[in-house]
Amino acid sequence: VCCSHGQGGDEGAVAAIYSLGDSITDTGNLAKEAPPGAFETIKHLPYGVTFGRPTGRCSDGLLIIDFLAQDMGLPFLNPYLAKNMSFDHGVNFAVAGATAMDPTDLFNRTFSMPFTANSLKLQLQWFKDFMKSTFDTDQEIRKRLQSSLVLVGEIGGNDYNFAFYANKSVSEVEKMIPAVVETIINATKVPSKQLLSQVHPTINLRN
Ligand SMILES: *[C@@H]1O[C@H](CO)[C@@H](O)[C@H](O)[C@H]1NC(C)=O
Ligand SMILES: *[C@@H]1O[C@H](CO)[C@@H](O)[C@H](O)[C@H]1NC(C)=O
Ligand SMILES: *[C@@H]1O[C@H](CO)[C@@H](O)[C@H](O)[C@H]1NC(C)=O
Ligand SMILES: *[C@@H]1O[C@H](CO)[C@@H](O)[C@H](O)[C@H]1NC(C)=O
Repeated sequence: VCCSHGQGGDEGAVAAIYSLGDSITDTGNLAKEAPPGAFETIKHLPYGVTFGRPTGRCSDGLLIIDFLAQDMGLPFLNPYLAKNMSFDHGVNFAVAGATAMDPTDLFNRTFSMPFTANSLKLQLQWFKDFMKSTFDTDQEIRKRLQSSLVLVGEIGGNDYNFAFYANKSVSEVEKMIPAVVETIINATKVPSKQLLSQVHPTINLRN
């Protein structure tokens, strides 16, 4: 779904944005998740100076996702980990530092992650959990998704960053590319297919 101008209620307008990704897109998840003392930089000015306060964005101001939301007449996207904020117009599942591949698969486990385990797999799980707990029926989820913009990425850059941090050579890092790309491709297929079918067991249990 891309990209109708409008003020929310318009026919054909985007009702919500669901976003997966890394620091390019994170609007506050890492800052919520990080323990005190970790990633202090983004928790303080000048990060967020355009907003007048730090927001957890890895930026002094708006991100591309913020401009997209503005352009569609939607409020800025709240981070999933800020549990008590409004998710009426979408959720941001992106986490700074996130990788496309699951940490257990990265480079055949020949190096460990410097931080975060917020891979696409985890973000997709959050997405599914959110849809299941927010909507009662498949039909409602289908309806919401049909009027939503679902963004997967930018993501994958950190997979290579972390390999380089672990002193892997360029040729070693190049070997990761097919698996990273395939992981992203696979993730983009999930929202349209598995999000719906995985709702049924929950509904059956509830009934
Ligand atoms: C939720 O709201 C309460 C009360 O306004 C606030 O103290 C708390 O920090 C919020 N929690 C999160 C995760 O934002
Ligand atoms: C990578 O190499 C640098 C320079 O030799 C070294 O200081 C650093 O500890 C190495 N890092 C890892 C994760 O092996
Ligand atoms: C991981 O191992 C498989 C099987 O041995 C190999 O084909 C693949 O190239 C390896 N991936 C990397 C990034 O080294
Ligand atoms: C992508 O999905 C295909 C089909 O389900 C699967 O065979 C493949 O292993 C997946 N690739 C990755 C990197 O997860």
